[in-house]
Amino acid sequence: MTQNTFRAPRGMRDILPEDVAVWKHLEATAGRLAGLRGFQEIRPTLLEETALFTRSVGEVTDIVEKEMFTLERGDSSYTLRPEGTAGIVRAYLQAGYAKRAPVQRFFHVGPMFRYERPQKGRERMFTQFDVEAIGSLDPRVDAEVIRLATAFFEALGLEGLEVRLNSMGDGADRDRYREAVRAFLAPRIAEHCELCQSRFQRNVLRVLDCKNPSCRALHDGAPSILEHLTAENAAHFDAVRGHLADLGLKTIPDAGLVRGLDYYTRTVFEVHAPALGARSAICGGGRYDHLVRDLGGPDLPAVGFAIGFSGTLIALEELGLLSAIPQESASCYVAAAGEGLEREVFRLAEELRSAGVSAVYDVEAKALKAQMKLAGKGGHRFALVVGPEELERGSVQLKDLDAQAQQEIARDEVVRDVAARLAPGPPGPVG
Ligand code: HAM
Repeated sequence: MTQNTFRAPRGMRDILPEDVAVWKHLEATAGRLAGLRGFQEIRPTLLEETALFTRSVGEVTDIVEKEMFTLERGDSSYTLRPEGTAGIVRAYLQAGYAKRAPVQRFFHVGPMFRYERPQKGRERMFTQFDVEAIGSLDPRVDAEVIRLATAFFEALGLEGLEVRLNSMGDGADRDRYREAVRAFLAPRIAEHCELCQSRFQRNVLRVLDCKNPSCRALHDGAPSILEHLTAENAAHFDAVRGHLADLGLKTIPDAGLVRGLDYYTRTVFEVHAPALGARSAICGGGRYDHLVRDLGGPDLPAVGFAIGFSGTLIALEELGLLSAIPQESASCYVAAAGEGLEREVFRLAEELRSAGVSAVYDVEAKALKAQMKLAGKGGHRFALVVGPEELERGSVQLKDLDAQAQQEIARDEVVRDVAARLAPGPPGPVG
């Protein structure tokens, strides 16, 4: 046998059948909660023109400077999307929504790619649940979007999460803040790492993003944007907090919260799972009130977030919540009690499937005992045992694997019988 030496690229993993139920559960929870709030699913392309990300995420950011998977083809440069917002806004504009119905709510669940150093909760291919509400500056929409993020974690049973909130301001207050940060950093900029020194010149706020502990230590006491907000932006921030309080949602004001992407304005927030350690954000988002315009559309505000599934899964595992998510398995296991019954087993399994009942059977000619052991372990609801005597009597043994009860049923009724047992009950009357 030749040895298989191929492995998935570093920082990327396969989602194997035993993990799929959990992933589907996360996807279904995301879709259900987004649907309840009128967010429509969108599935943009995985590959975009590189310039889309340079323009939106920003040239002087970790993502664009260090983390993009980029490929050149002919005269064009394409990048595997490192995040979802830019592509969703691009699709929104391309499809003409901005002209027809500017207020649109979208969600998407899918893979993103960043060439990061793989570590706990950080991968090079990872899945985000992305939510974008385009076209409104109303602070209720900020609160609604933040609530959708926390509703997702609540529905999964995750507790002890922190919602950190800040405002990045916009326009005049951002300019004043930038100058204050520059004045704060200038005296000790020479003590920073090389990247910080170059960012000080090119995009001074990004210096505060540095993960380097010795640089971070120099940022204690950095100015807070909240002290520089215009009255209008301060009122917007207060209104968002007021609406969140109306929803009973506790948030932690965090003046040090600067997101790692350039498009943010006004509200920014992150949800942290403290158990994840240094990189504990499992959700990040905020307003991006100029991105639609910067990508060639009209001047429309927007707000959104993305939840990372990698961190969410770790948090679920640490709380022991993963095993509670039921595995999916076929409803029926069709077993043969003896030899020469293969064709009957094969036919019965297919009849069940034709009636919409999932069924599997043994193809390895195992002994009945071994088949029943498999049926028990496989999470199936019923075992149907085809035996020589039953075959002669025109019947099948039906075993309820949950209740451990057994009953002989006429062969020509068994498919209907099993289908009826598996059907959900009738809906209750209204009123
Ligand atoms: P972000 O903070 O870059 O924001 O990513 C959001 C979340 O995605 C993070 O909090 C984290 O959970 C997860 N994430 C990011 N990188 C990785 C990685 N390498 N491995 C695993 N998980 C990761 C955005 O992406 C914005 N587009 C969010 C947004 C949407 N803002 C407005 N709308």
